Order: sequence, then structure tokens, then C-alpha cells
Amino acid sequence: MKQDMILILDLGSEENPKLAREIRAMGVYTEIHPHDISAEALSALPGVKGIILNGGPNRVVDGVSIDAGDAVYQSGLPVLCADHKGEPALPTDDAARADLLRRFVFETCKAEANWNMENFIADQVELVRRQVGDRKVLLALSGGVDSSVVAALLIRAIGKQLTCVHVNHGLLRKGEPEQVVEVFRDQMDANLIYVDATDRFLDKLAGVDEPEHKRKIIGTEFIRVFEEEARKLEGIDFLAQGTIYPDIIESGTKTVKAVKSHHNVGGLPEDLGFELVEPLKMLFKDEVRACGKALGLPDNMVYRQPFPGPGLGVRCLGAITRDRLEAVRESDAILREEFANAGLEGKVWQYFTVVPDFKSVGVHDGLRTFDWPVILRAVNTVDAMTATVEDVPFALLQKITARITSEVKGVNRVLYDLTPKPSGTIEWE
Ligand code: XMP
Repeated sequence: MKQDMILILDLGSEENPKLAREIRAMGVYTEIHPHDISAEALSALPGVKGIILNGGPNRVVDGVSIDAGDAVYQSGLPVLCADHKGEPALPTDDAARADLLRRFVFETCKAEANWNMENFIADQVELVRRQVGDRKVLLALSGGVDSSVVAALLIRAIGKQLTCVHVNHGLLRKGEPEQVVEVFRDQMDANLIYVDATDRFLDKLAGVDEPEHKRKIIGTEFIRVFEEEARKLEGIDFLAQGTIYPDIIESGTKTVKAVKSHHNVGGLPEDLGFELVEPLKMLFKDEVRACGKALGLPDNMVYRQPFPGPGLGVRCLGAITRDRLEAVRESDAILREEFANAGLEGKVWQYFTVVPDFKSVGVHDGLRTFDWPVILRAVNTVDAMTATVEDVPFALLQKITARITSEVKGVNRVLYDLTPKPSGTIEWE
């Protein structure tokens, strides 16, 4: 293995991800593990140079302070306690804290600053080859950042032993399914099964207008299509997943309660009967992007804005119809193109269009029209829990309006949504 590691043992502190990132920022790889790690599990971790115990106030449960087991104290590795019976032991002043951590990592533990993407990829390639041997792996490749980076990493590690299945549920943005085929099948020579399940999804969704019901149909149907494809293949032992570190951290460890459980389109049930391959499970999102770039994925795939699993289905409000869905897709493409032209791509966190299921009267070439409006949404956020509205230049809004009303069939008005979260949510459904 090419990297040294500092192990953070979780005694309940919600600050552990921050601590992990602080040390990674020094160029040293970190992982967070449960406080009661066994001696076997500890010795199986490669490159551990030192251990930090961190509990914070959650460390004290019913008046008793929980502690790491003998495995840790008998390991012979340097140990730093970041809190003392729940009271912070690291300085709360940032510079002093960074200094103390740096001295522990480099002087006490003698770790080397050798955490970088090249080394991470080299290590994961070796680990995946070891895990998989000459057997076969299956991946649901949505085209999102995480599954795309997993695909690129596994193609490097095991080539044609990986089969990627891309299910097009008909609710993707303009050009997305084509790009998945182009990048993975044409450029990376992957084993890619492309399933156009548009009709199947849209038939199931016909007449369904309740948002949660729509989501459920999309999620369930996705799993059915994927399972059908998986059954056609023979000799698959592993399922690869684009799990990343925040998914694991937010789903809760033994000692920190869950922030939210992660469930998505593409979030496959555990009882599929495969062993999991999750090479990104220790990376934060920005690190996943860096990994994708280092593996040669295009920028618009690696830096793409968040896109909900149920896709344009939650932006074509009410019961989805093909013509309104096309209006969402085409108006979204115009919005994205104009934001890119204006240099806003990568600066605004998320932007998209919504088409409601009502019409209004307008006029075109002197004739009365009765068409849909398109709602523009552009928001900024750190964690998607709250969001502010982007102050889009008025001239740009006017340009986008002119293009959408002249280029998108069935649309005669454009509105800009000025609502922050709360009181609105980011999506409309
Ligand atoms: P809301 O609308 O809840 O959205 O303010 C917050 C963020 O989550 C995304 N979102 C989803 N992502 N599956 C997803 O993978 C979903 O069902 C889903 N619903 C909302 C949304 O795009 C925004 O970034």
C-alpha cells in the first residue's frame, strides 16, 4: 500500500468527519472506525501510523465515559485523545489545533504526507483486484458523479470483468444517456448494457400525480429493470456501488445517531445476493470528483450539479405527459447552456426548470395561445437543508425567457422562482 493512515476512533463526536478532513488536508489519509475496533480489524488496516480517540460530549453515556478497547492501547501505536471524558482536549483556536494535530501526525506518528489521488487510485486498484480475483462485477451506472467514478476506477482495475448497466428511465436530462454510452462504451471500452426503459416507466407513471407515489414507482421500477438485466447475466458474484463517505457517516455509526438514511433511485436492495465492491466509500464528495478527473472522466460529468434520482419526473409536475416532459427537458437544456455561456456553471449550486400542469393564455404571431409556463429555479446551498436564491442578472433571465418561449414547444411564459428554502424546498415535488 502506498499511503500512511491516521485512524480516528469514533466515540460519538459529530466532529469526526471535520477532523478526518483536517488531517487529509495535511496530505495524510484518515479513516473513521468504531471505538470498539477489534485487534484483528485493527491489524488488517493498512498503513496505520497513529490513532485519535474522539468522543466529545456524546462520549459520556448515562454518566459513564466510553473508551476504546485493549486492542487500541496494546497496539503500540501512538494515541491522541481529542477529548477528555467528553470535554474538548484539542484547542478550540484553529491555528493551535492545526499545530497540535500536525505535530501528532508528523512528529509523534511519523506519518508521511503521501495521500494523493494517484496513490489512492493505485491502492484501490490493488484492493479491488485482490477482492474480485478473476470473478465478475455488476454496476448500475446512472451517469451521476459517484457511479461514473466507480465505473472508471473498476474499468482500470478489472476491465471487462465489470459489466455496467445503464437504465434510461426516460427522465434524464438532454444528452445524458448518449454521454454515458459515448464515455464508457466508446472511449473506455467498457462492457456496457444500455437499457432504454422509457416507455415502461412512462406507462407506469401515466395518470399518477401524487409526488411520493411517482417517486415510489420510479424507484421500484428501476430495481425491477436492473434485476431483470442482472438475471440475464451469468457468473456475477459482486455488485459495485457508488457509496461515498458522507453516505456512511450520515447513515450513522454505532455511536452517532443517523442524520438521514440514504435511499435513492439506484440504491439497490441488499438482498440481491451479491458481495459489495465499494471503492469510494472512504472519499468525500470533492475527493470523488478529483478521483474522477484523475481517471480521465470529462469535466461535465465530474462537476455536474446534483440531480435527483427520480430525475425530471419530479420537475414535470403532477401526472407526467410526454409533451410536458419534453418541455422540461428542452427548457432545462437551454437554461444550462445559457448559464454556461454566462460563466455561471459551477458557480451556482443547482439550477433547473419546472413545468406545472396548468396552462395560461398568451399570444404568438397575433394568434391566441393556451400553453404551459416554465419555472426557472437557481439556488445556492451548502448542505441542501436550507437554500438561497441566486441573484441572476435580469438580462440573462430575459435572454433565457426569449429562447424558451420561442424554442420550446407548448410554452408561452417563463417565471423565476424567488423562494428560498424554507419556505420552499429546492425541488417542486
Ligand atoms: P429538496 O427538494 O428536498 O431537495 O429541498 C434537496 C436536494 O435533494 C435533491 N433531491 C433528491 N435527490 N433523490 C435524490 O437523489 C430524490 O428523491 C430527491 N429529491 C430531492 C434535490 O435535487 C436537491 O439537490
